[in-house]
Amino acid sequence: MKFYQSFTSLSTLAAQLVSIAAAAPLDLEKRDVYTPPVLYPHSGTVWKVGARHNVTWDISDPPVNITNKVGQIWLRKGEIEWIQNGTLASNFSILAGRVEVTVPDTEPANDYSVVLYGDSTNWSQMFTIID
Ligand SMILES: *[C@@H]1O[C@H](CO)[C@@H](O)[C@H](O)[C@H]1NC(C)=O
Ligand SMILES: *[C@@H]1O[C@H](CO)[C@@H](O)[C@H](O)[C@H]1NC(C)=O
Ligand SMILES: *[C@@H]1O[C@H](CO)[C@@H](O)[C@H](O)[C@H]1NC(C)=O
Ligand SMILES: *[C@@H]1O[C@H](CO)[C@@H](O)[C@H](O)[C@H]1NC(C)=O
Ligand SMILES: *[C@@H]1O[C@H](CO)[C@@H](O)[C@H](O)[C@H]1NC(C)=O
Repeated sequence: MKFYQSFTSLSTLAAQLVSIAAAAPLDLEKRDVYTPPVLYPHSGTVWKVGARHNVTWDISDPPVNITNKVGQIWLRKGEIEWIQNGTLASNFSILAGRVEVTVPDTEPANDYSVVLYGDSTNWSQMFTIID
């Protein structure tokens, strides 16, 4: 449950989930496009180059039919997605809820996030990578 502490308001999140669920029957196609929110890493996380970590995301409310179950993860720095550097992880199931990645040898900075790609993309809060 530690992951949830970083959400500014759990009740806001719950309200969003409720409104998404309420809207779903009206738009099945949209509901089937599934990119769950990344839970870890999050704001305050520090990763060391070369270390291995589990990126985790929320799989509590998957739609019945998911168009693309195969996920990919890549690194984002500031507003730039570093797809050209290759992915941190690929070909895993979006329904797994986690995938283990190795922190790449990249310049230390505090504005990294990981991008989770399924049907569309979503990304984590910004976190820090150190040498
Ligand atoms: C991306 O994640 C946020 C929470 O971090 C969530 O509110 C939003 O709905 C997600 N976007 C998509 C397209 O699923
Ligand atoms: C990732 O999660 C799996 C399953 O819980 C665990 O076996 C593994 O040790 C974890 N890896 C790391 C680097 O924490
Ligand atoms: C999911 O896919 C199956 C097989 O294509 C279909 O029969 C079913 O109606 C779909 N369910 C939803 C909620 O779209
Ligand atoms: C992706 O994973 C599936 C099942 O593990 C495997 O059959 C397939 O060859 C993999 N594809 C790639 C491009 O690695
Ligand atoms: C990604 O590529 C950019 C530009 O080529 C480089 O500056 C950066 O260090 C690379 N990052 C990683 C994680 O390899």
